[in-house]
Amino acid sequence: MRERDTVWLVGLMGAGTGAVGARLAARLGRPFVDTDAEIERRDGASIPALFASEGEAAFRRRERAATDAVAGRPAVVALGGGAIAQPGAAQRLARSGTVVWLRGRPESLLRRLGDAADRPLLAGAAPAERAARLRALLAERARHYATASVVVDTDGLDVEAVTERVIDALSEAGAGEESEAVRTVRVELGPRSYPIRLGWETLEQAGAAVAEATKARRAVVVTVPEVGRRYGARLERGLRGAGLRVRRLLVPDGERSKSLRQAQRLYDGLLDFDADRGTVVVALGGGVVGDLAGFVAATWMRGVPFVQVPTTLLAMADASVGGKVAIDLPRGKNLVGAFHQPRLVWIDLATLRTLPRRQLAAGLAEVIKHGAIRDAALFERLEADVERVLALAPGPALDVLERSCRIKADVVSQDEREGGLRMLLNFGHTLGHAIETLLGYRRLLHGEAVAIGMVFAARRSEALGFAPAGTADRLATLLRRAGLPTELPDFPRRAYLSALRVDKKRQEAHIRFVVLRGIGQAETVPLAPAEILPGLLRRARSRVDR
Ligand SMILES: NC(=O)c1ccc[n+]([C@@H]2O[C@H](COP(=O)([O-])OP(=O)(O)OC[C@H]3O[C@@H](n4cnc5c(N)ncnc54)[C@H](O)[C@@H]3O)[C@@H](O)[C@H]2O)c1
Ligand SMILES: [Zn+2]
Repeated sequence: MRERDTVWLVGLMGAGTGAVGARLAARLGRPFVDTDAEIERRDGASIPALFASEGEAAFRRRERAATDAVAGRPAVVALGGGAIAQPGAAQRLARSGTVVWLRGRPESLLRRLGDAADRPLLAGAAPAERAARLRALLAERARHYATASVVVDTDGLDVEAVTERVIDALSEAGAGEESEAVRTVRVELGPRSYPIRLGWETLEQAGAAVAEATKARRAVVVTVPEVGRRYGARLERGLRGAGLRVRRLLVPDGERSKSLRQAQRLYDGLLDFDADRGTVVVALGGGVVGDLAGFVAATWMRGVPFVQVPTTLLAMADASVGGKVAIDLPRGKNLVGAFHQPRLVWIDLATLRTLPRRQLAAGLAEVIKHGAIRDAALFERLEADVERVLALAPGPALDVLERSCRIKADVVSQDEREGGLRMLLNFGHTLGHAIETLLGYRRLLHGEAVAIGMVFAARRSEALGFAPAGTADRLATLLRRAGLPTELPDFPRRAYLSALRVDKKRQEAHIRFVVLRGIGQAETVPLAPAEILPGLLRRARSRVDR
């Protein structure tokens, strides 16, 4: 918690935002504001009366005004239960302070509410009905509350004890923030080493870091129209501020842009810009832009400096780190490429706020993979917090992505060219690729196919005696909570077998299949396709559950 920050307390009715807020304000020596009370005072009418006379929309406008009036002031503010669920509210609150969710199970909230005579939503209802209404309300709002950067469980605690916990949690959150506004993970590759820098709302700062890392005088920003429209200007302002001449080159959105044709267009753009070896190519976008721009950077004048500014979770967690760059040919993906390490990977997590939720979940599959193969603590953190990570709660999302990047960085540092260790990153991908092939790269996103492939590989790991029973279930449970599919699409076994045989990662007749030893540990074993897919699969009725 920074000194100037507002502390926003949110939670369902009965969570105690009012009582805890007043106590907390006294302890911190700050003013206390209860927005509901503030509205009632200003308008001289009770909230239920305002709701009845003016309707909800008018009430929300008053609530917004009361909130804006204190935003950024060093106060403790108790918000009405629905305030954070309004469009854009969660982001506004996070920008001006620290959001604290006082979480409670519906039973404990009800106990605190007593007969709830003053709560229009519950008054007059029988106890069972009240519990049901509270549960429904929680289901509806949990994803908004989950954006809070601090969560305090209140079950069984009184006001004093909850206040104590909030104070502890705030000082922990604050300690993290001050020293680590931008966090760094290093990829150690001797002279080709580079930092991955992670933070929130940092796009404009990238320019100075690019200038320092590359000493370039010109920058070509490669992006797709939508991403360029949203984020191009901020990135380019920073680049210009650092003294670089900048040109933006657009490619159409989608995998089809990873083509020789688009590479050719970019080469032409570079020529028109008089791009020499003092020019840095900056990829702003998802894995498609990163792979294509990186390929062009690797080949333009036998290689110019390259910087990744990934804007999808898949690109942040996976594609932007490690230096694999490539384009596709009509007959296959990633067939023409190079290893060309970036000089810098600049990750602004705030760009994820506009990424469609399905894309976010698909990217998270690779993060979960990193936990599953190498970091049980990351996996456990995800088990504790996956909803908040997907809601992009600043602390949890940053922690998890940082850890995930550490794993990828560590693996790449030890095995840049995929001689051994790096193969572990293929966990879930053998079958995942087969599924993508069978579906003609439609219907499922890459991360979704990998989710299915990981559960399959974990089940095989158990059946082959590598992993303890329950490993696959744990993985499947986490993936499902992230909204990812886990069941094999229903194709005949022979179709899967032939799809496995075209996987370019096979060695002779055997495939180096990645198995788990347990959560957090993996290894490769050579298996023939028929061993990967035992006969009983033929009869397993399954479907893609999406
Ligand atoms: N080089 C590697 O090591 C590596 C690793 C994994 C994947 N890849 C490659 O990555 C590609 C897939 O990457 P991807 O999943 O990022 O796909 P993508 O680049 O196509 O991005 C997905 C979609 O999200 C949009 N988008 C990007 N950022 C956004 C934002 N912040 N807000 C809103 N929309 C946004 C994109 O325009 C696109 O429509 C594949 O070509 C794959 O081969 C490479
Ligand atoms: Zn992948």
